[in-house]
Amino acid sequence: MAVESTSILFYVNGQRRQADGNACLQTLLSYLRYTEKLTGAKLGCGEGGCGACTVLFSTFDNATRRVCHRAVNACLFPLAAVDGGAVTTIEAVGDRRGGLAPVQQALVNMHGSQCGFCTPGIVMSMYALLRDNAANRPESQPLSEQDVETNFDGNLCRCTGYRPILDAFKGLVNHNNDACQPSCVLGEACCKVSGNSGCSNGELQENGVDIGDRQQINGVEDQNFDKEFIFPPELIRYDHPALKLAHGRWFRPKTLERFKEIKAAYTAARVIVGNTELGIEAKFKGLEVETFLCATHVPEMNSIVTSADGVNIGSSVTWTQLNEFVSNLNSLAKANSPKRIEEHKYGSLRAIQSQLRWFAGKQIRNVAAIGGNIVTASPISDVNPVWIAAKADFMILDCRTGDERSVAAKEFFLSYRRVDLKPEEVLLNVRIPWNQDPCDLTFAFKTARRKDDDIAIVSAGIRIFLESKSDRDTQKDNYSTHRDAYFISDIILAYGGIAPKTVSLGDAESFARGLPFSEKSLHSLLGKLAVETLLPKDVPGGMPEFRQSLALGFVFKAFLQAASHLKEHCAMNGTRYVPFSDKETNLMKEIQIPREEYRVSRGVQVCTDRGPQTAMDSTGTSVKHLSSLLQVSGEAKYLDDMKPIDGELQAAFVMSSESHARIIAVETEEASQMPGVCRVVTAKDVRGVNSIGPLVQDELCFAEDVVTTVGQVIGIVVAKTTEQALKAVRAVKITYEKLPAILTIEEAIQAKSFAKGVPERIIQKGNVSEVFAVAERDGHTVNGSVRIGAQEHWYLEPHGTIAIPDENGEMVILASTQAAAMTQDVVAKVLGVPMHKVTCKVKRIGGGFGGKETRSLFISAAVAVAAQAVQRPVRLILDRDTDMLITGTRHAFLAHYKAAFKANGRITALQLEIFHNMGNSTDLSIPVMERALYHANNCYDIPQVRFVGKACFTHTASSTAFRGFGAPQSMMIAENVVEHVAWVCKMPVVRVRDTNIFGKNGNSSTTPFGMKFNSDPLLLCWDAALVESRFKERRKMVDAFNESHQLRKRGISALPTMFGISFSFRALNQAGALVHIYHGDGSVLISHGGVEMGQGLHTKMCQVAATELQLPLEMIFISETATDKVPNASPTAASYSSDLYGMAVRNACQELNRNLAPCKAALGDTASWLNVVSHAWLNRISLFATGFYKTPEIDDLDLAKPGSTGSPFFYYTNGAAVSEVEIDVLTGESKNLRTDIVMDVGRPLNPALDVGQIEGAFVQGLGWCTMEEVVKGSTGAHAWLRPGQTLTLGPSTYKIPGFSDTPEDFRVKVLETRNEKDTIHSSKGIGEPPLFLAASVFFAIRDAIRSSRLQYGRDEWFQLDSPASVERIRLAFCDDLLRRVVPDEEGVRPKLTL
Ligand SMILES: Cc1cc2nc3c(=O)[nH]c(=O)nc-3n(C[C@H](O)[C@H](O)[C@H](O)COP(=O)(O)OP(=O)(O)OC[C@H]3O[C@@H](n4cnc5c(N)ncnc54)[C@H](O)[C@@H]3O)c2cc1C
Ligand code: FES
Ligand code: FES
Repeated sequence: MAVESTSILFYVNGQRRQADGNACLQTLLSYLRYTEKLTGAKLGCGEGGCGACTVLFSTFDNATRRVCHRAVNACLFPLAAVDGGAVTTIEAVGDRRGGLAPVQQALVNMHGSQCGFCTPGIVMSMYALLRDNAANRPESQPLSEQDVETNFDGNLCRCTGYRPILDAFKGLVNHNNDACQPSCVLGEACCKVSGNSGCSNGELQENGVDIGDRQQINGVEDQNFDKEFIFPPELIRYDHPALKLAHGRWFRPKTLERFKEIKAAYTAARVIVGNTELGIEAKFKGLEVETFLCATHVPEMNSIVTSADGVNIGSSVTWTQLNEFVSNLNSLAKANSPKRIEEHKYGSLRAIQSQLRWFAGKQIRNVAAIGGNIVTASPISDVNPVWIAAKADFMILDCRTGDERSVAAKEFFLSYRRVDLKPEEVLLNVRIPWNQDPCDLTFAFKTARRKDDDIAIVSAGIRIFLESKSDRDTQKDNYSTHRDAYFISDIILAYGGIAPKTVSLGDAESFARGLPFSEKSLHSLLGKLAVETLLPKDVPGGMPEFRQSLALGFVFKAFLQAASHLKEHCAMNGTRYVPFSDKETNLMKEIQIPREEYRVSRGVQVCTDRGPQTAMDSTGTSVKHLSSLLQVSGEAKYLDDMKPIDGELQAAFVMSSESHARIIAVETEEASQMPGVCRVVTAKDVRGVNSIGPLVQDELCFAEDVVTTVGQVIGIVVAKTTEQALKAVRAVKITYEKLPAILTIEEAIQAKSFAKGVPERIIQKGNVSEVFAVAERDGHTVNGSVRIGAQEHWYLEPHGTIAIPDENGEMVILASTQAAAMTQDVVAKVLGVPMHKVTCKVKRIGGGFGGKETRSLFISAAVAVAAQAVQRPVRLILDRDTDMLITGTRHAFLAHYKAAFKANGRITALQLEIFHNMGNSTDLSIPVMERALYHANNCYDIPQVRFVGKACFTHTASSTAFRGFGAPQSMMIAENVVEHVAWVCKMPVVRVRDTNIFGKNGNSSTTPFGMKFNSDPLLLCWDAALVESRFKERRKMVDAFNESHQLRKRGISALPTMFGISFSFRALNQAGALVHIYHGDGSVLISHGGVEMGQGLHTKMCQVAATELQLPLEMIFISETATDKVPNASPTAASYSSDLYGMAVRNACQELNRNLAPCKAALGDTASWLNVVSHAWLNRISLFATGFYKTPEIDDLDLAKPGSTGSPFFYYTNGAAVSEVEIDVLTGESKNLRTDIVMDVGRPLNPALDVGQIEGAFVQGLGWCTMEEVVKGSTGAHAWLRPGQTLTLGPSTYKIPGFSDTPEDFRVKVLETRNEKDTIHSSKGIGEPPLFLAASVFFAIRDAIRSSRLQYGRDEWFQLDSPASVERIRLAFCDDLLRRVVPDEEGVRPKLTL
């Protein structure tokens, strides 16, 4: 036996490293962040689902003598697996001192980083692509835009909407590739391609300039890797020794013999390759592995070998390697190479490859192996059904005896995650026989909630063996004689997602065998399948009807594809063979567009960049986000990047496992005595008050007698390390007495469980009852209900707090919060100290979106109590799952509506009864409901209204603020009413919108609560959106498309929006700023009350100050937000911070200008700034000033009283959007083909930042209304889960939009208007207003469904709940195939957690 090394050798950023012992068993991310102190790679989820931790891992491939560069997720990558490789982190790519790398600079130039938390991971993904391309791709095949677009399926960004990131990197590729042209929606007609002078991009470019600033990409150098660290020569020579690490906990043998020996000796040893499954089990299921047996260096398990019979794929071959292998076969076939393998032969491999396009993210595919997927035996594995269809054999090796046995894939999966593998056995390789002939066809299908990086809901491998029989004469199952036809000689129907294991449908297969390949056979088979795939209503995983419909839909697609193949490739008696009728043949064409077909997305952003009025005037210009240089280089510090403070301890929460229960006992003794544990802190340790809450103090810092939601904090364990704290948390024993729990809005309504002591909120105008009485006689009323699910914030940086106690009871809180002042207040109260002893500081936060406005308070309060108790600094950073469990969501809504209207679509009265799920504390739920009511008519002038809102108390985590603050939900309700009215009136919806919009057709411009406003900008947006999107023309095109397509449907929708700017609670509309000028060099430091969370607030404030003081921007700096600098600040929210702090900063600067005026006068016009400042100092003139601003003209309305009127808002920000979608009827998958947005944002302080807000909000809204679904157990919805249990914790179960969800054609235009109100430089608030415009996609989806329903003669009103997920879309159709699954004409309304 060769000597086994007990340490590993690797390089990090060009530096040689060795590690041994247990250190090897940590993840690469933990090593980089805590040992190397390289904090550029972030911990966003810890489960491979967000890409924030992406680094480059380079290895030398001895066989090809090439260095291979791959992006990997450091959060799952075991350090031991790094042996022999070189790790490159963002810190080595480029920084401010040494200069940014082109890949970073491109992102800065194109405004591709907002909060910046995702940015290092995204840069590293692109860097890996470029670097591997430079090293290994033939020069004749330069990277294309498509390569860029498909490179980021393992990365998420919650801020940008992805368009600027893609533009930046596509620009970089084009830059390196003369053959490619820069992105423009006009494609070949683009002036940059055609060479014509002047941009002719429709009306969009007319008055504006393209703020995408593509020219700036041209200024970015080529990414030149000659300057980068070379792959260490030592590692080229390195012979990758066998490893025995951590005293035999990690083995990495180099021969199969040794592998067998180890496995025979330690049968419990777990084979490990990518750790993408084991790592998850360890993290979430508490799996503790005694011995790891790493199979990455055993040749027999790592090779792909072809033979006359087929191909042998080693079990440790990664998905990327397999993909490359098949691509290589494709290239050889295409080039007609003598080495080629006939295409039909590797049909099953091609089917697997097609599945890989949407399999996990690139970082996962780069490390995860086929063996891990097979042995894990997930019932929703994407590929296991395809192995069955491929008739693969799994070669099993008995490590004790050395015997090998072969198990057919079909037989391998025994039951839920159980396979035919004994403890001493391992999977050696997979043997796939070649497909037999061109009529032996394998297909693979998958439908998931999201396309990028999402495990299947249902996956399938379908194989059809066709045989031509010209003289056949069979009688089977009453099928008459067929001559000159193709028959199904065999068929395999294998599925994931319809049973606890991967299955093949034996009955249906037997039924189909021998049938002629015809339409009739297909329909008979579908009937058979409908029986065999029937799922119980309460099936684990839910969605029984949808899953069944997918199973049938995939067979339908497979048959059409097979028919199409026959038509293309097979002749019968010399003529082309067309097995299906004309109708079905037409469908073939629709099915021909493969799922992986990918149109490269394009974007145009148009807005007037005013350009500097003077050399010192930067407002109105697209200045880059001032932190962007730090963000792209990983230098920007977020909370958990702060260096440990001397004596710092780590903490973890003890949380309730019950929704509603009396706490009988909390036993902490065992936990307290565990290694490293310092203390278990509970309510007993609170020296101040335990009751907290932003407006109403109805929540507890630590639960005392009763818990009211799963995840409620009962205690906090403080220990030396996070792992120790988490382990001790599991040792705290809590005894409960369960109490009845109310979990949903419906249950709350039934139990009359509403916010305590809070009367319902009402907006009333006129008398709706009278109008209804008349309208009902004419049949001019509609009523119904709208259901809108919750939304998780999914900021990339999870919540966290560091509490640092100091002398004399002082406490400094560093927190990821949008509300520093509220944090200070709440912490002071729980500690029992005056507020002046508590300081809260925030440098920047990695996204907030409302989720860190108040839900950070209970976290900071608990951590502060712990720090006070132990008198040491305490840090607590929530992991993603805990964050999602306990920090609340956007409110789910249920609304009942009744509307009266005239025959011309004019709505005359609207009555709404709106309920939302406030969760277990009041938090901000009442103001959220109030804003919902303020916006419940969206942009429509409805003469008589009665809107009533009630907040439902439930035993779920408190719902909270989320971008839009209740308005998107109520506007969605309003638009639903408009759609319903249009349907009854048989009018185009767009006309009904136009008929009712404020300020048009004689309609008023006064809201139902009596606020008069200027509706001109709203109408400008609305009209411009319709014109610039060519709505009328495209409406016709959509209708024409739908006429000729049955399996694909398109829909188009146009929507306006208006969003009231300012806090609806008057007192919050005040702001302070503090501006210092330092006399030594004249530099300026600004402090203000707002928090930088990616929106560019600090950048805008610096622009305002620079303009006011007439200084270059570099002279101005903002360091942080701190309560000891500017007190009593309102939370950074309500899209109002630029307005508030902009005015406050200007106010302070104006005072400084007044102070300096005598000095300037004394020194003359030519005096430099420094001279003026020095002169002021010498003459003892103050060089600092505070600024204050309060919004004028706004009223506090009391919505507890009906008929309350006034102006709760200063003004409205307006917008309109038009979206067009295409839907795959058989799967419910939709694609956003084009979105046009027109916004009025006054005169933007920074056009590029505002466009970033528009695009980011839109894509976040897209998630809200199309794919993001919070799933919780309750008796009404999702009874297959434990009541109160949340399924959607983490990126694997909860899907926010990914890169491929950005509209294919995304056009944003910012109108050239100015705010007529006196706002900072006439700008307008922009953060929240555009979010609702994504509902244009929701209603475009509805439009597409309606068009299909009409073709089936179904013209009745149907309700589509939000989000319009794949399930809801599919089940809203009423095609024949669906009727086999849901025979009831009424259909099914998929479950939705409210
Ligand atoms: C973010 C993310 C996204 C994902 N997306 C998808 C997806 O879209 N579709 C999908 O189907 N799957 C998906 N997965 C699951 C993923 O495919 C599998 O996790 C992966 O293929 C497992 O490979 P691995 O090498 O990482 O396995 P490891 O984690 O190393 O091992 C997994 C298990 O297999 C065992 N094992 C491995 N090799 C052998 C062997 N040769 N003999 C015996 N036992 C063995 C291990 O002991 C362990 O129990 C995803 C996982 C993650 C984390
Ligand atoms: S932190 Fe690693 S993928 Fe999210
Ligand atoms: S910039 Fe991507 S998550 Fe904030």
